[in-house]
Amino acid sequence: MLSVAPMMDWTDTHCRVFHRTLAPHARLYTEMVHANAVIHGDRTRLLALDPVEHPVALQLGGSEPELLAQAARIGAEHGFDEINLNCGCPSDRVQAGRFGACLMREPALVADSVAAMIAACDVPVTVKCRLGVDDDHDFGRFLAFIDTVADAGCRMFVVHARNAWLQGLSPKENREVPPLRYDWAYALKRDRPGLQVIVNGGIATDDEATKHLDHVDGAMLGRAAYHDPYLLHRLDVAWFGGALRTRGELLRALRPYIEDQLARGVFLKHITRHLLGLFAGERGGRAFRQVLSEGAHKPGADWSLIEQALALTQSPAVAA
Ligand SMILES: Cc1cc2nc3c(=O)[nH]c(=O)nc-3n(C[C@H](O)[C@H](O)[C@H](O)COP(=O)(O)O)c2cc1C
Repeated sequence: MLSVAPMMDWTDTHCRVFHRTLAPHARLYTEMVHANAVIHGDRTRLLALDPVEHPVALQLGGSEPELLAQAARIGAEHGFDEINLNCGCPSDRVQAGRFGACLMREPALVADSVAAMIAACDVPVTVKCRLGVDDDHDFGRFLAFIDTVADAGCRMFVVHARNAWLQGLSPKENREVPPLRYDWAYALKRDRPGLQVIVNGGIATDDEATKHLDHVDGAMLGRAAYHDPYLLHRLDVAWFGGALRTRGELLRALRPYIEDQLARGVFLKHITRHLLGLFAGERGGRAFRQVLSEGAHKPGADWSLIEQALALTQSPAVAA
């Protein structure tokens, strides 16, 4: 399985539609949405979902089984194909609310939440977690967390293969500083072959992603997929088949969606911000990014700006 990580402020519906164009077989994830927001908030915005996105998972934050169950039911009714519970986010805000990564220390509560969510909806309920928090370095403890949650009915775990350090590190540092231990995700799959294990964290190249498939059921890419989205296309073709399309072809395939969104009053900049990395490292890649960044917020900006940016990637005069 190829999947694109849930990323706050990044994996909104426009981003997911773009990623779907690149990777027809990938599983996509929303940004994390708190269960309370799903229940009481503006669902049209928070649960926005385009039909082309499937299969797509709604990631929930929270730690109250009843609220999570209600939110899971609403998410499934909205058409999401999977409901994922966040047990990996380390931010202060999340810790204050007693959810995210600190749930790794509360396996029974996670199990209750998962059981309630499974009872409330008819799509798979999955968990995204870390290896542990702070100075937990005990594989047995990690396995006990997984077993407790699996006993409640969760069959798929996305393992961001490092600890979360809840004191002293920002969320960004928590994606970089705690060391990666892919061997724990591999050992989980070996010891619990009946579970689906997806490995996540620090996967930056085609080869790295593909090598994980020798050990686990899939790879989830976050930052690399966002900053160099063509990587998703190459992986999708390599893993699932099909013809490799050029970056330009893929971009033009998005035109009907973009024009439809503009007609509905969406500003071009809300879509193009996700496209900036498409030509990363390619000839004209910087000019492409610059034209879109500088032009997309101007009144009346439309598809012609994208053609203008694209032309620069095809002009021999422009450097990478
Ligand atoms: C901008 C940003 C926002 C993120 N938001 C979430 C989130 O909402 N939920 C979540 O589980 N993880 C979130 N993450 C973590 C990613 O899902 C992923 O676990 C992490 O980036 C490691 O994978 P990578 O090295 O492939 O980026 C976020 C990461 C980034 C960079």
